[in-house]
Amino acid sequence: MLVDKLLHSLTLEEKSSLCSGNDFWHTKPIKRIQLPSIMMADGPNGLRKQSEPDDKTGLTLSLPATCFPTTSTLSCSWNIDLLFEVAASIGEECLKEQVSVLLGPGINIKRSPLCGRNFEYFSEDPFLTGTLAVAFIKGLQSKGVGAAVKHFAGNNQETKRMTIDSIIDERTLREIYLYAFEMVVKEAKPWMVMSSYNKVNGCYTSENKYLLKDILINEWGFNGVVVSDWGATNDRVLALNNGLDLEMPSSYGYNDKKIIRAIKNQGLSIENLDNSVKKILTLITNSLSNLTYQYNYSQVKHHKLAYESLCESAVLLKNEDNILPISTSDKFAIIGELARTPRFQGSGSSSVSPFILENPLDEFSKNGVDFTFASGYSLTDNDINESLINKACEVAKNCNTIILYAGLTEEYESEGFDRESLSIPNNQIALIERLSKINPNIILVLSGGAPIEMPWINSIKGLLNIFLGGESSASATVDLLLGWKIPSGKLTETYPLSLSHTPSFNNFPGGPKTVEYREGIYVGYRYYDSSNTDVLFPFGFGLSYTSFEYKDMKILTVDNDKVTVSLTIKNIGEYKGSEIIQVYIHQIASNIFKAEKELKAFTKINLLPSEEKTIIFNLNKSSFSYYNVNIKNWDVEPGYYEILIGSSSRDIRCKKNILIKSTSISSMVYNKIPIYYTPTSYGLNISKKEFEMLYGKDLPNNIINPKEKYTLNSTLGEIKETIIGKKVYDIALEIAYSMFPNAHESQILFKMITSVTEDFPIRNLVSLSNGKFSLRLATALIKLMNEDYLKSIATMIQNNIR
Ligand code: BGC
Repeated sequence: MLVDKLLHSLTLEEKSSLCSGNDFWHTKPIKRIQLPSIMMADGPNGLRKQSEPDDKTGLTLSLPATCFPTTSTLSCSWNIDLLFEVAASIGEECLKEQVSVLLGPGINIKRSPLCGRNFEYFSEDPFLTGTLAVAFIKGLQSKGVGAAVKHFAGNNQETKRMTIDSIIDERTLREIYLYAFEMVVKEAKPWMVMSSYNKVNGCYTSENKYLLKDILINEWGFNGVVVSDWGATNDRVLALNNGLDLEMPSSYGYNDKKIIRAIKNQGLSIENLDNSVKKILTLITNSLSNLTYQYNYSQVKHHKLAYESLCESAVLLKNEDNILPISTSDKFAIIGELARTPRFQGSGSSSVSPFILENPLDEFSKNGVDFTFASGYSLTDNDINESLINKACEVAKNCNTIILYAGLTEEYESEGFDRESLSIPNNQIALIERLSKINPNIILVLSGGAPIEMPWINSIKGLLNIFLGGESSASATVDLLLGWKIPSGKLTETYPLSLSHTPSFNNFPGGPKTVEYREGIYVGYRYYDSSNTDVLFPFGFGLSYTSFEYKDMKILTVDNDKVTVSLTIKNIGEYKGSEIIQVYIHQIASNIFKAEKELKAFTKINLLPSEEKTIIFNLNKSSFSYYNVNIKNWDVEPGYYEILIGSSSRDIRCKKNILIKSTSISSMVYNKIPIYYTPTSYGLNISKKEFEMLYGKDLPNNIINPKEKYTLNSTLGEIKETIIGKKVYDIALEIAYSMFPNAHESQILFKMITSVTEDFPIRNLVSLSNGKFSLRLATALIKLMNEDYLKSIATMIQNNIR
């Protein structure tokens, strides 16, 4: 009612102005009717509210907030209550800071372990991602703070993220890359969905009718606000027509004028504009009614929750000779610069300024651990440093056990670029090798947001993965090592033996124009388990200091495609502990190619020694469905299915067959492309022709047209090949650096700025300068760079390009 009234009171200019941001973080206020703006801020492993109000880049220091473990870490808890609680706590911090919407969580699927931003994402599995994200969004929104789920969709790499075209066949799109979005939209009703920078199947997601209007809005019923990723708008009017309501950050009036012109010349209907404005007004009014002044929360409680979160999420990957837990009566060498300068979060727009940052060495001391420290390597120089290694070996000689802190350093993973390999820095590998010759009792504490390869795994006895564990990670780690807390996390992505085994190896990151998702549905364990490829650590794997018996699996009911299963689980070790029980479905004979198994249910339970509990799992139609492109809907093939219950995807403890008597509407077969039925082991090589058959049409060109080499969507990195382009690039880079006075002191900031500038499309220079770098000038320069001199001059003098 109120919203309708507000809408009708607005002028066309006011309506169009509401469709883009006021600055980097706020919606536009409309003073005439006393409509205030609301603030959005980054996350999601804590609140990142910029401290400087006129911050144009969004990357200056932010106000202190609790830094929780990153999403990739938290997901390893497989604990939906924990995710709810963490998000609710972040919601409280938002309320205190008057932030209406948290820009997260990011729920893109980890297609390749190389994606630089994987530390912000949940998993390689869509069901697990969706389930955990639903809990997170519900937790956040339970406080009256909205979630902006991102990055919708097909944004699975950082390389050329602003222009790349992700080519994905429809079944894969639905089953792998859209599934978690579908779950959260239907089950958690996020206030906002953020469209990504890239294209999907030829069209920018910010103006993609199929993704936004047909699927998100019409099919799934999303009625919140669709917001563009920051600077992701290409054609503003087309985007508005196709479902993108709010452009962020701001085109400084440039695109507002375009909207008004489009209404006047009938390129956009007033109904369409009103529809978007109504959604934005609803968002603003709902949020304002939840913001109370002087909200308070307990920082101490949140710090403790960050601690509990890592205790639940850290994954024990190796424990030879039960080297863990350690005892305080032992004498330790604590080695590794990461023990003195811990890495506790990722870099980029998600990075939080923590209230308190614990230090591992202090925590060891507080707990009475007798140790000597040596750094062993530098975090800023990857060269092998003999002197540091020698000092570490000296220390290691005189101790019984080595606790070695190692892992990915900042420059290895970040928003803005992808990793190049699965390796940790050479100086750390050299250190592991040398230490193992001196003392075999090595416990490695691993930091990093993504899988690494471990050719040195046999040189160590214990391996505790603490990922990027947030501000309390030091005390949580020490308590886990000492056995005050029992590890209970499990991997949410596979650790392959080698990069060449990863299913997307031959098609990641693609470019220059497209990236072909040739591996189709075979992402993560769906590939490794279907092709019998050995892995370093499988999906769902994690050890404990205790062990569990799985018994008495029973199929309780089968009613069409609703199935109830029970299982009893017993703690048969000496410690209390938690187990994550995973239910997978395997179809026994299928006309359609399917992954060997797919995760369809899970739970985490706590048990005292000798305690047992019976658990019931409910499976339903979606547990047995695949996306049938013939009928454009989810469908169940009738036949025998195996229900597998296990402790990881490779450790199935119980199984039972059931018959599903579905009435499948239409069958679809892909038997002309056998590679998808029997994917090869240790790497997939799918030809263009095979993928084309799966895709169902010719693949788009991945070659830059030599005649029209440069367009408005060319990036600064691409145009710098020409003399003029280099000039534009240099100026843009200089401006970018000038926004970050400390860029030259921080390797990671320097690398990120350079890489973001490289990927920056020319069209954004026009909108971000509010047209001062005019479209006409940009077009003329492009023509000049394409050596089309006459047209360039003609463009300069004509005046119909605005
Ligand atoms: C990122 C988003 C982020 C936004 C605002 C973009 O570059 O992709 O995830 O929310 O910036 O900082």
